Amino acid sequence: MQTEIAFSDQHKGALAVRFVNEGDKMPFDTIPDSFTGKKLETFYLPEIRTLVVGFGKKEEFKPDYHRRAAGKAVKLASAYKISGVHFVQQGLGEKECVALAEGALLANYSFDKYKAEELKMCRVKTVSFPSTAKKFSDAIHRSAIVCDNTLMVRDLVSENSSVVTPEFMEATARRIAKRNKIHISVLKESELKRHGMNLLLAVGKASTQSPRLIILEYNGDTKSKDRLMIVGKGICFDTGGLDLKPRDSMLEMRMDMAGAAAVLGVMKSASELRMKKNLVGIMAVTENLIGEKAYRPKDIIRSYSGKTVENIDTDAEGRLVLADALNYGVKKFDPKLVLEFSTLTGSVVSTFGNHVAGMFGTENAVEYKKKVFEAGMETYERVWELPLFEEYLDEVAGERSDFRSLGKTRYNGAIFGAAFLSKFVEEKPFIHIDIAGTAMIDEAKDYMPKDGTGFGVRLAVEFLKRI
Ligand code: BES
Ligand code: ZN
Ligand code: ZN
Repeated sequence: MQTEIAFSDQHKGALAVRFVNEGDKMPFDTIPDSFTGKKLETFYLPEIRTLVVGFGKKEEFKPDYHRRAAGKAVKLASAYKISGVHFVQQGLGEKECVALAEGALLANYSFDKYKAEELKMCRVKTVSFPSTAKKFSDAIHRSAIVCDNTLMVRDLVSENSSVVTPEFMEATARRIAKRNKIHISVLKESELKRHGMNLLLAVGKASTQSPRLIILEYNGDTKSKDRLMIVGKGICFDTGGLDLKPRDSMLEMRMDMAGAAAVLGVMKSASELRMKKNLVGIMAVTENLIGEKAYRPKDIIRSYSGKTVENIDTDAEGRLVLADALNYGVKKFDPKLVLEFSTLTGSVVSTFGNHVAGMFGTENAVEYKKKVFEAGMETYERVWELPLFEEYLDEVAGERSDFRSLGKTRYNGAIFGAAFLSKFVEEKPFIHIDIAGTAMIDEAKDYMPKDGTGFGVRLAVEFLKRI
């Protein structure tokens, strides 16, 4: 664990954090009248090392304010090189304490490994609560595990794509599997060819490294035969292929493996939490590069499922690698549900910006979708559903082939992508989450850094708890 969690009634050298509602009597006379406690407004009293955070009007309070307030406190402590943050308020419940811990741990991070030592973020060493909160210690420590794994995913997403290559993804997955009683197998070029995973192979053709299907198995409930599958898009770098992206759109494309990284984070969390679930995690990993070996626009390719796909645009690579991964996974593991994360479309970014991920699901996944939505509201890794009505599903039919990879118009791009994927899950309950807007952000938020956010890990773990 990177940050220590403690329970104590003294805040010693730590930054004391207090909350007020708008209009409350202020806890210190030195607070000026201009500070009224509006939502997430802060006032720092250096002489007593205390930060007062406003929670706005009582009736307008949102649970995420605890995370955001804790995030603000950690950032302030870090800026003043104060080594701890102490939440003073007595009588908080379990959920509130967990949210405060999450906000603090998630804010206590910066992707600064390439910066000079003196310019690195000064991490807070301890986050502490009143001793009466000790009864929540277990819940807080469990959420800290998930936060730590979120930070691991952020590191993978933010790191150079020339470091996080398919080889590196495999090595990372192997290391994590070994330490966590997770079974791992990795299919590379010769096996992929033998199995006929031509979509995954096509996308990776211009890379010097073989594509990889990384399969992780965690069996936490040996009494049950039920399995859940979680799949992630792992394009280590997406140039767009021969349909090359314009330079500005390519800038962030090292993040195009965020779905696969999230899968790794969820599997690691499930194992560390000893969740009573049987999980299969599949990472579809390669890079979408250019060169004479690169696959071509309008190539018709036979997928693992046997169906042919006319690939209209080499920048639509995500759905191709996922189609093979999904179809292989459902046939081999016969899961009860398939949950899939991918940075699939620019279209979902136009729709939701960076606040919410797009959720899509088959009709037989209604109950699961509801739970994913609720898990999103709980963790504030929020999702919002878009439809997969039959008119959309019909658009996937091909003319020269079984399927086409792109719609005939440039509209409903995110829905088309989801509809395409749904053709490869053999009628299993399927939920696709398009995290193109949420996996990496340009501007830091209270407990989220710029760049990789680790989106999906907390959401999926919370979802797993609920089913
Ligand atoms: N990796 C991109 C999607 C993406 C866009 C992720 C912006 C994060 C931020 C994906 O492979 C892609 O290029 N999608 C194209 C699809 C199009 C060619 C059908 C898109 O959405 O523009
Ligand atoms: Zn692309
Ligand atoms: Zn992509």
